Amino acid sequence: MSELSVNHLLGIKYLKEQDIQLIFETADHFKEVINRSIKKVPSLRDITIANIFFENSTRTKLSFELAEKRLSADVINFSASQSSVKKGETLIDTVNNILAMKVDMVVMRHPNPGAGIFLSKHVKASIVNAGDGAHEHPTQALLDSYSIREKLGDVSGKNVVIVGDILHSRVALSNIFALKLQGANVKVCGPKTLMPKYIEALGVTVESDLRKALNWCDVANMLRIQNERLDISYFPSTREYTQQFGVNKKLLDSLDKEIVIMHPGPINRGVEITSDVADSKQSIILNQVENGVAIRMAVIYLLASKIK
Ligand code: NCD
Repeated sequence: MSELSVNHLLGIKYLKEQDIQLIFETADHFKEVINRSIKKVPSLRDITIANIFFENSTRTKLSFELAEKRLSADVINFSASQSSVKKGETLIDTVNNILAMKVDMVVMRHPNPGAGIFLSKHVKASIVNAGDGAHEHPTQALLDSYSIREKLGDVSGKNVVIVGDILHSRVALSNIFALKLQGANVKVCGPKTLMPKYIEALGVTVESDLRKALNWCDVANMLRIQNERLDISYFPSTREYTQQFGVNKKLLDSLDKEIVIMHPGPINRGVEITSDVADSKQSIILNQVENGVAIRMAVIYLLASKIK
């Protein structure tokens, strides 16, 4: 396959296995580029990309912007808190006004699930979902799988446990779709109250005992409690959460084998993961960040080649 089966990246749910492989092969090439002394290619000199962020972001926003600049695209940034959205403008009007300035691609983060899907039906530009509420975060899942592939050689057949706030995490849902599509075995682990009721319908199993989950897995992806999305209290206290679902060095060292630790960031040190684990040689957290740029370059490059 030489091109993606989709014109937008709205979620992993809409991708095929071959799309993921194509993105990974393209990212391999860009990873080599960003490790050169001149970290730039002229591929997208004729493309203009708008990054529009209606929700806070550090890594994802910087990573997309860097990826776009390394492809030589023209980039404009827009953050909702400083915009006319606050004056009552609708999403479609905001985006159509941006597009009137001849923008080819929109990378959007939005608090509402499905915001990117909605936009893709109403505006003429390629849309990349950079996180839509508690729904999907496709580039994060792609860079997570890419990092597993890099560390363990393959994703297929690997045992991956996703630990934490599964209910409110777009990283969890996109990872489940991506890992299943590539033939990994997936377990989810966390408080019952933060477990979606029908999660097993996605082909994953629930394990409430963290030690058992860790002893089973090759990779543990530790997630943050999405405090900004919690309207009520889902567990008695942070301290109790950490006791049951936090990973510390003592727990890791007591396992039967050495597992790989991942985290999408931002880390809450001492809550879901202790510093000695986050900074240990078992952790590939910073590799994930590095791979994020190559993956986003690949996604943007492949989508842009469908516009031309
Ligand atoms: C994640 C997100 O925004 O969903 N972070 C990220 O993109 N690196 C995870 C999180 O916020 O916990």
